[in-house]
Amino acid sequence: MVTASKHPIMQHMLSELRDARTPPPRFRQLVRTLAIVLGHEATADLETIASEVMTPLGRAATRTLADVVGIVPILRAGLGMAEGLLELFPAAEVWHIGLFRDEATLRPTEYYNKFPARPRVSLALLVDPMLATGGSAVRACEILKGAGVPRLKLLSLIAAPEGIARVRQAMPDVPIHVGAVDQRLNEVGFIYPGLGDAGDRQFGTATAVVDA
Ligand code: PRP
Repeated sequence: MVTASKHPIMQHMLSELRDARTPPPRFRQLVRTLAIVLGHEATADLETIASEVMTPLGRAATRTLADVVGIVPILRAGLGMAEGLLELFPAAEVWHIGLFRDEATLRPTEYYNKFPARPRVSLALLVDPMLATGGSAVRACEILKGAGVPRLKLLSLIAAPEGIARVRQAMPDVPIHVGAVDQRLNEVGFIYPGLGDAGDRQFGTATAVVDA
């Protein structure tokens, strides 16, 4: 299932995120805040269990999350989204997966991962601001399933239709939540019109403007 956010804050802030003039400090803030907006929407169906606490005045019936949540950023660009989601799920485990796209083949190359041998996580929120060809997301889902995570959701701020189709085809059981669906991939595999390279724009390492 694919859900594209219609939230006005998402739309407003995506406009600023896409803007080539937005500098890295503001870009990072936006990624973090937009991850919270998308995270709210993507987790609206989580189960809760009955609980109870003592307030200063007496006993209160409460509900708490049933899931052990894991936040899984795909390095590098997912790091900013993970920070935002930690505001919603401060007790989440954060698992890192390092993947970069080979610029010639556009295929993902694994260079790092860090998570426990026996996963406690029952729901992993895989985060990457960009879903382009979908190669990185599919590989990350394979890694997480291989690690024994029973349930995954993918959260991306901007997606290309090609990437969505690829994840849906390879991982039909993984719900996809996106901030916006763009027109297409361009000839070098960038989301068009997109926002450029989310990793470079967050971390100040952009060297050139990518032409359409
Ligand atoms: C970008 C982006 C995604 C991936 C998307 O990362 O952040 O991880 O490409 O492309 P795909 O859907 O075609 O796989 P990149 O490889 O540039 O690495 P970086 O985050 O370290 O810059």
